[in-house]
Amino acid sequence: MNKSYYVSYATVHKLVKALAQKVIDSDYETDVIVAIGSGGFIPARILKTFINRPILAVGISYYGIDDKPFTSPQKIQWIDETQQKITGKKVLLIDEVDDTRVTLNYCINELLKHKPKEIAVCVLHNKLKPKEAEMPKAIKRYYIGQNIDPLWIKYPWDAIDIDEHTKKEKR
Ligand code: G4P
Ligand code: MG
Repeated sequence: MNKSYYVSYATVHKLVKALAQKVIDSDYETDVIVAIGSGGFIPARILKTFINRPILAVGISYYGIDDKPFTSPQKIQWIDETQQKITGKKVLLIDEVDDTRVTLNYCINELLKHKPKEIAVCVLHNKLKPKEAEMPKAIKRYYIGQNIDPLWIKYPWDAIDIDEHTKKEKR
C-alpha cells in the first residue's frame, strides 16, 4: 500500500501562516476569503487569524453521499448569487490540496462568472504530478504552502485518534 503523509494541526497552522505572509509580502490586498469546502474550511479560519477578512464558503464535491464519484465536480452549497458578494472584490481562495486540479479549476471558473476584481489562490499542498485541468489564465497569483510527491495526505481533521495522528507525523 502507498505510504501516507501525515500532517498535524500544528503543521497546518504553520503552512497557513507562511502562506498568509507570502500574500501580504506580495501586496495583495484581500477583500474576502473564499474557502472551498470541506478541506478548505479549517485552513480558511486559520488564514483569518493573519489576514482578517470575512470568510465565504463554497461547497464542492467530486463524490456523492455513497462515495460514488460524479463525472464532474458538484456544487453542494454556493454563494448567494443575487448578493454578488465577490463582484469587484479581491478574493483569496483557499483549499487544502491541489491534486488533479479538477475541483480547483471548476471552482475558479464558477467564481470568475461573478466578476471579482481578482482571484488569488492558496493551497496547503500541491502534489507534483501531471494535472488533469489547468490553472485558469485569470489566475496571476498562486501561493503554495508545500510541494510534495503524490502521496495520500492525511489531514488532522480526518483523524479518529488525533494523538496517534500527531505521533505518526513525526515517524
Ligand atoms: P483539486 O482540484 O484540488 O486537485 O482536487 P481533486 O478534484 O483532484 O480532488 C478530489 C477530492 O480528493 C477533493 O476532495 C480533495 O480534497 C481530495 N484529495 C485529493 N488528494 C488528497 C489527499 O492526498 N488527501 C486527502 N485527504 N484528500 C485528498 P473533495 O471532493 O473536494 O472533498 P473534501 O474532502 O474537501 O470535502
Ligand atoms: Mg477539498
